[in-house]
Amino acid sequence: MKYFEILDEMFWEFEEYRDINKGKGIRGKLITIINPKAQKLAAVVEAIHLASLLHDDVIDEADIRRGVRSINAKYGEHTAVMLGDIVYSRAFYELIDFGSEIAKIVSNAVYLLSKGELEDVKLSRFINLDKEKYMGMIYKKTASLIEAACGAAAVLAGLEKEPFMNYGKNIGIAFQIIDDLLDVTQDEETLGKPAMHDFFEGKTTLPFIYLFEQASEDEKEKLKSLYKRKLQESEILWIRKLMEKYGIIKKCYNEAKELVDKAKEEIKKFNMPQLEIIAQKVVEREF
Ligand code: IPE
Ligand code: MG
Ligand code: MG
Ligand code: MG
Repeated sequence: MKYFEILDEMFWEFEEYRDINKGKGIRGKLITIINPKAQKLAAVVEAIHLASLLHDDVIDEADIRRGVRSINAKYGEHTAVMLGDIVYSRAFYELIDFGSEIAKIVSNAVYLLSKGELEDVKLSRFINLDKEKYMGMIYKKTASLIEAACGAAAVLAGLEKEPFMNYGKNIGIAFQIIDDLLDVTQDEETLGKPAMHDFFEGKTTLPFIYLFEQASEDEKEKLKSLYKRKLQESEILWIRKLMEKYGIIKKCYNEAKELVDKAKEEIKKFNMPQLEIIAQKVVEREF
């Protein structure tokens, strides 16, 4: 059985679960490329990812996810939180069967992910222009689970885990940089989630950190006045134009690309071309 079928089987009894669209399944794909027999592990990690998104959409007050109404928007925050808890607990229950090394790798990632989400919330209280804080936070909230997914799959396959974990960490950080970039450049329809939502939520992601470094005093003043405000279409266009003007889009994209190249280098000797394709897709995706 494929991992997405196992995932459905685990949670189908919950009617709300049936309203959740399939995601890109990148964590599951990575696991089953590294270890084609690890469908169950892939399902467990995808479940953890799903649970983190259920909670994330409550935290971010996001109304759409994967192109459809989010569980919090459709059934309320209580349901989304509890469904998240259900999915987390079932995933941990299944995780135990993989033995303590794998269980520790994955559960530690969930601990880091949650710390990252908390840091994300704290960093969004005021304008954060500290790149190191941003990078540490995105490593935790996004890259740690991808890193763990690759490491756990390698352990289960009897391969050395470090190169795979480094690969996962680097594409994970690149993945979030691109996620933050797409939030600025794409529209809601393409994204399947709200566009230009991060700045509204108080998040100064990498494109904004770079923009503040380069913008003129007047431009910075205007940016500050738009912070956390529901933006007009014209204001969204102004921010996008400013980012183009200072080459911010290219700069963030190149930074993500460098991480992806580093990731590919890490696992070169294992001759797994599909891992290189996934890494490439992380930076080339449009949603
Ligand atoms: C959250 O990051 C990622 C998780 C670890 C749940 P975001 O809040 O940026 O994710 P999106 O944009 O809602 O998918
Ligand atoms: Mg979110
Ligand atoms: Mg979030
Ligand atoms: Mg985002």
